[in-house]
Amino acid sequence: MDPFQYQDGELFCEQVSVSALSQEFGTPIWIYSKSKLVNEYRQIQEAFAAVDPVICYSVKANSNLSILKLLNEEGCSFDVVSGGELFRVREAGADTTKVAFAGVGKTDEEIRFALENDILMFNVESEPELDAISRIAAEMGKVAPVALRLNPDVDGKTHAKTTTGKKGNKFGMDFERHNELADKVLADPYLELRGIHMHIGSPINTTDPYRQSAEKALNIVRELRKKGHQTNWINLGGGFGLNYRGDEAATAQEYAEVIVPFVQEAECRLALEPGRSIAGNAGILVSEVVFVKHEGGKRFVIQDAAMNDLVRPAMYDSFHKIWPVKPSVAPPKDFEAELEGCPPADIVGPVCESCDYLAKSRPFPEVQRGDLLATFSAGAYGTVMSSNYNSRRRGTEVLVDGSEYKVIRRKETYEDLIAHERV
Ligand code: LLP
Repeated sequence: MDPFQYQDGELFCEQVSVSALSQEFGTPIWIYSKSKLVNEYRQIQEAFAAVDPVICYSVKANSNLSILKLLNEEGCSFDVVSGGELFRVREAGADTTKVAFAGVGKTDEEIRFALENDILMFNVESEPELDAISRIAAEMGKVAPVALRLNPDVDGKTHAKTTTGKKGNKFGMDFERHNELADKVLADPYLELRGIHMHIGSPINTTDPYRQSAEKALNIVRELRKKGHQTNWINLGGGFGLNYRGDEAATAQEYAEVIVPFVQEAECRLALEPGRSIAGNAGILVSEVVFVKHEGGKRFVIQDAAMNDLVRPAMYDSFHKIWPVKPSVAPPKDFEAELEGCPPADIVGPVCESCDYLAKSRPFPEVQRGDLLATFSAGAYGTVMSSNYNSRRRGTEVLVDGSEYKVIRRKETYEDLIAHERV
């Protein structure tokens, strides 16, 4: 169930009034629902229960410590891509032996840090990385657990900037090299082959790309076992879709139906790395209208959230539903269809870039200075991709639990903006 509902003409997060929170903490403000975060995680866990999966929440989607702590308490594991993310996971109290570490450019410092913390496995993305991990493990007198990240050459049919599993992307190693690479790991006393990893992109709204990569994974596992390799893990990465518009994404159950049979046949442990599908619809960004202007035959709604807060529309032309917190027109089913009383508007921010917009030519009710707007599906790849561009301060983050709420990141001050600079 969607935790963000309009009741008596205004938007609530669970039982807390969005306008009351915005008044108390100012805008822009990020508001998250605890129940949504927990339920999305549980739904994935339950959908895949037949193979007792290890769900490694992809920290990059939203790395707020309180959110990591919450998921850790639920029994979630973690997927990290930097020393910083590993540090966060540790600070959240998580058991680092449940952490998978991906990324094409792991530095010596990061590899050492991961080995010190006895992570579950490195998702290794190149041959030089295998060499580096082996060298550092040898220095530390350890054996490093690795999974080979293979590029399955499967088209996830998503945005070009978030496709990762097609030949020619920078991620992983060519699929055809799995034998040669596995042999190399086997011959190395400082490396242990745990399994294989694939991540085809994000968001993938359909199940077929997962069926294709799960089938490829099964075939590889069989081949490697025949050659005497221990290959006990299949990690199919993240990328499950999100309902940004309506119900365009497959459900956890539907993804499970195509993946589970291959994993059972392979007799492997399954790891998954969902981020967006857990955090995305658990969060909104609320902003306040600063001015409305009509120029060049267009209506511009200028509000106080910008590309520095939520960069996805500027970066990927992403679609986010946006609607007033106290609307004069009830929110439609289809936010892109023409709607009476809702002439098109560009919803833009104050940053000095033409690409600073949250929505373009969107049917939108009349609003005025001071009105609050909610941008939905902002829980994943929102705050984590935000910046201080134009020396703008990032807003408060609040976690709602029923009728209660707490600040999980305070609004930045002007002093914060210069805190690390030296004159
Ligand atoms: N595993 C790996 C290896 C990944 O590269 C990613 C995402 C994930 C897991 C998590 O994918 P998710 O379940 O969250 O879709 N900034 C973009 C998304 C970039 C995703 C990068 N990798 C966006 O805002 O759409």
